[in-house]
Amino acid sequence: MCGIVGFVGNVKAKEVIVHGLKKLEYRGYDSAGIALNIDNDIKVYKAKGKMENLEGVLEGKELDSNIGIGHTRWATHGEPSDVNAHPHSSESGDIVIVHNGIIENYLDIKKGLKAKKIVSETDTEIVAHKLNENYNGDLLDTLKRTIDEVRGTYALVVMHKEVKDEIVLAKKGSPIIIGTSEEGNIIASDIPAVLKYTNKIYILEDGEYARVTKDEVQIFDKKLKLIKRDYIEVDMDEKTAEKDGFDHFMIKEIHEQAKVIEKIVNTKKLEKVKTNIKRYNKIYFVACGTAHYAGLIGKSILDRNTNAAVFAEVASEFRYNEPKIDRKTLLVVTSQSGETADTLAAVRMAKEKGARVLSFINVVGSTIARESDEVIYTMAGPEIAVASTKAYTSQVMTMILTFSKMFGKAVDVVNESKELMMKFDNVLDIEGYVKQLSNKYKDVDRAFFLGRGMDYNLAKEAALKLKEVTYLSSEAYPAGELKHGPIALIDDNTLVVGIMTDERLYEKTISNLKEVKARGAKVLAIINDRNDLVLDVADDVIYIPKSQGEFNAVLANVPSQLFAYHMAVAKELDVDMPRNLAKSVTVE
Ligand code: AGP
Repeated sequence: MCGIVGFVGNVKAKEVIVHGLKKLEYRGYDSAGIALNIDNDIKVYKAKGKMENLEGVLEGKELDSNIGIGHTRWATHGEPSDVNAHPHSSESGDIVIVHNGIIENYLDIKKGLKAKKIVSETDTEIVAHKLNENYNGDLLDTLKRTIDEVRGTYALVVMHKEVKDEIVLAKKGSPIIIGTSEEGNIIASDIPAVLKYTNKIYILEDGEYARVTKDEVQIFDKKLKLIKRDYIEVDMDEKTAEKDGFDHFMIKEIHEQAKVIEKIVNTKKLEKVKTNIKRYNKIYFVACGTAHYAGLIGKSILDRNTNAAVFAEVASEFRYNEPKIDRKTLLVVTSQSGETADTLAAVRMAKEKGARVLSFINVVGSTIARESDEVIYTMAGPEIAVASTKAYTSQVMTMILTFSKMFGKAVDVVNESKELMMKFDNVLDIEGYVKQLSNKYKDVDRAFFLGRGMDYNLAKEAALKLKEVTYLSSEAYPAGELKHGPIALIDDNTLVVGIMTDERLYEKTISNLKEVKARGAKVLAIINDRNDLVLDVADDVIYIPKSQGEFNAVLANVPSQLFAYHMAVAKELDVDMPRNLAKSVTVE
């Protein structure tokens, strides 16, 4: 939930760190800071708010140093402020650290501290004081002995003013990678921060440590035994992490979806799937947020094609529902980041109980990917906007393709996919019309998204997208459920969006729309058929091309994505970095 960058090399650290932090702002942006070792003295600069505020603080300062660490924050302990911003220092200022995660026992550690002056409300500062008390001249050994006293999750990056050419780090439960380049070695929470300099990255596993100098990356196990590990080359470059002329990452990523589908189909049609679905009598789809809603589409495919009992649960609940898991259980996991704490915890619990884990993940080498029995990468490329769009589509597409191979229907899916890409471009042609509708409805008090069957699953994703980027209260409901209570909320400043892609259910949903229309609601229909009945009830209709089964979930989702995006723009909100949110929720 925070962005970390560290650098040691042959060029000025400030430029590398600031550039990297700006690429990681989507992970958290309520405050930021940087620490540089300048002539054996550590200078720390911090600012509340986004990176532009920190850049303002740094402007005009020489800051000639080739080693430093930086951080952009999503507050967990202590409100967003300069004093709570990272980096945090020991009392003497000799040791400075940045941290992503939660130190669960920081109050116990705080009780035993000799430090007199604790300036922030954060758990991280406590660790800085503890490191200082444990310091024995060997920074890595000091870090390990301190970590032995800590409980929680962390990507912890440490610098000491006397150790001029070395940064040490420890990882558990929060992502951290190390990019190696001609300019030097770059530590970061995520790959986009290093792409300007390299696509060669080392990945740290939980429980591991690293010592980074300008010429060397050493990785150690939990006993500080040196590990021989090569870097991997990721097929991403700086450009794929740029806006490419679009106003925001979100609209760029919406428009990238047809290309993502094409890449998935062309790459995966031949890819073998190891998991034998017939061996399992219970299948759980587990994920969070948008990834959960993508999982619902995958669930509907397995419901139709297997005799197994198929369930779908949000990861943060799954763990407490006493799921009956054994060796005949398959856990299907979807996650863009592959770092979501609740989803990772569900994976670990299910594996402990003997389940097999098949995961659909976007970020290569992420923690969930590495802990799964089989991972199918969804190949969406870097998704920078906090609101997930192409990641959802890529998860649905890879599941459709993967499951179709299990049931010997891959050929039909590949053919249907080719048509889908054309239909996708048609849907994007309605963007101007959807933009008008977003402006027309941007001042409503609330929105409901209604659907039946799979359309209800689409309604859930559509409602999340709208609330996430416009802050408008928007809920998804089964179309038949509204009259059992929620219809009391309908008034003449309520927008009701009816999603209809299943012709068997058109009429039922249309009659529900009539019920809300009669009570003053504004009605918008998203439908894949020139159905005249809908014209009687809807104030506006978005027609989309018809497709087969779950492919409709891909096409019908696009108008909702565009509607949410353009309404956020009309409301002049921060589309790519909505308030209170972060791209990857790595705390429970
Ligand atoms: C979706 O737009 C949100 N950003 C959020 O719900 C997200 O889908 C969820 O946090 C899961 O993230 P993941 O896919 O990285 O696991």
